[in-house]
Amino acid sequence: MAEGPAVLSGPDFESGVPLSSVADDELLLGHAGGEPVLLGRSGGELFAVGASCSHYGASMAEGLLVDGTVRCPAHHAAFSIRTGEAVRAPALNPIPCWTVEQRDGRVFVTGKQERSAALRQVRAEDAAAHPSPW
Ligand code: FES
Repeated sequence: MAEGPAVLSGPDFESGVPLSSVADDELLLGHAGGEPVLLGRSGGELFAVGASCSHYGASMAEGLLVDGTVRCPAHHAAFSIRTGEAVRAPALNPIPCWTVEQRDGRVFVTGKQERSAALRQVRAEDAAAHPSPW
C-alpha cells in the first residue's frame, strides 16, 4: 500500500496543551515530530502513542481506550498504551510510544521512545509492583 505524508490535525503537542484538556479515559488527537499522535490519560497516568494503526493505517482518533489499550476502530486491533505493542490481532506490529512531560499545568509530548527502552521501563515497573516470591 502506498503511503503519503501524514495528515496532521489537532494541537501541536510539542508546544503543550493544558492538562485540563486531557480527560481521564479519553483520547486527544494532535501531532508531534510531524506525526499524528494520540495523547490520553488512563487511571491518572498520561501517555502518548502513534495515531495511525500499524495494520492498514487507519486513524485511531475515534478508537477506544480499554483496559490499558487503544483499540483501532477499523478492525479492532489493540495496542498497549505503555509500550505500543500490538496485543490483539489483526495488527502484528507495534505503534510508536512518545515521552510525555507535565510542567506548569501543561502537558508536552517531547519525543519518540526507543522501543527497547519503553519495554525495559514497563518490565521494571511490573517487577517492582509484583515482586517474585522466590
Ligand atoms: S486498520 Fe487498524 S485494525 Fe485494521
